[in-house]
Amino acid sequence: MFDLSSIERFEQIATPFYYYDMELLDRTLDTLVELSGKYGVRVHYAVKANVERRILQKISARGLGADCVSGNEVARAIECGFPPEKIVFAGVGKSDREIYGALTAGIEAFNCESLHEIYVINAMASMYGLRARVAVRINPNIDAHTHKYVTTGLFENKFGIASHEFDDLVSLIGRCGSIDFTGLHFHIGSQIAEVSDVFSLEARRVSEIVSYFEDKGLTVNEVDFGGGLGVDYDDPDSGSVAPFETWFRAITENFPPRPGRHIHLEPGRSVVAQCGSLITRVLFVKSGETKNFLILDAGMNDLIRPALYGAYHKIENLSARFRPSFSEMQAYDVVGPVCESSDVWGQGRVLPLSVRGDIMAIRSAGAYGQVMASRYNLKDFAPAVFSDTPWDAPAYVDYFASGHAERV
Ligand code: LLP
Repeated sequence: MFDLSSIERFEQIATPFYYYDMELLDRTLDTLVELSGKYGVRVHYAVKANVERRILQKISARGLGADCVSGNEVARAIECGFPPEKIVFAGVGKSDREIYGALTAGIEAFNCESLHEIYVINAMASMYGLRARVAVRINPNIDAHTHKYVTTGLFENKFGIASHEFDDLVSLIGRCGSIDFTGLHFHIGSQIAEVSDVFSLEARRVSEIVSYFEDKGLTVNEVDFGGGLGVDYDDPDSGSVAPFETWFRAITENFPPRPGRHIHLEPGRSVVAQCGSLITRVLFVKSGETKNFLILDAGMNDLIRPALYGAYHKIENLSARFRPSFSEMQAYDVVGPVCESSDVWGQGRVLPLSVRGDIMAIRSAGAYGQVMASRYNLKDFAPAVFSDTPWDAPAYVDYFASGHAERV
């Protein structure tokens, strides 16, 4: 974790910024790589969770593949060392330009989400004299018991192909001369907490669907179960490495192996969430009519998860531990500077007595943090800082703030 004691004059650090603990990322990857070998699963990191080049380079160097959802993600993954033949490309709405780029790059597979898309990819491949490897994303109608906005495997969701089109799908694949059908793809949701139950159910349902297609004459060699493994937002330090083994076991124990068939998984959040913190400072302390507010310089423009999903992120005051009054606690509504009432980090958070200038960490921010940032209110993007890179670079020093961080 970010350690203020290693920094001489932390009042002068320009905030907010994303801090990445690269040692924790290494440990997470060690576990993931070891277990993927043990359980025989092929892992594609879901690039959408974090696209920082340093992070992608570290992940590609460990031999993982990439799961991308845009042409730019495919290009970034290749730039950062992922071999095209280990890149899959999903998403319900791929543009012609994106399809063309991925076709010419020679990616492992398009994960297609509609019959129409398969038709278009086949037509484009034929027009350019190329072959497209295609896996088909199926909507298995499974409730992942997670937030409505990150549930993707129910019939009401836009993702995947529904069962009433299965026969048309088989016939379409038979008629498409420029595609090679590789297998089936699923992804039922994100931040799944009931790991064993939900993924066992997914694996059993997938097994039925695979049998259906094999009975119809298709060879399903590649079976991709998507991502979704949840992380511990309440206790990021004890739960710093996600329960990969429980996930792998739930899938492999409920999905029968067959020679020549490969299981693929696409974790995003569970790889990068815990290694990232959003580091911010207290601008003002305000006593409201019924509560105390701590106003931070990071807001929903930097990390939108609390405003968008009501997501919980642990908040820590990193400066207070250097004060004798550290044990004095106070309840605060911790808020950001953006002109929206949803720009709230947490309500009634009990924290050490906090003052202007205090450095705070918003934890578990490595996944879907920086990538979802915006410039709303014309705020600057928070930069990334890496634990294995020298710290005292002038870029991190805000001379304007330094004289004003007085203690009240
Ligand atoms: N594969 C596919 C096809 C996906 O759509 C996703 C995530 C993943 C893999 C990776 O899932 P993960 O292992 O990260 O759960 N912005 C939301 C999360 C959106 C997830 C979208 N799809 C959040 O901040 O919670």
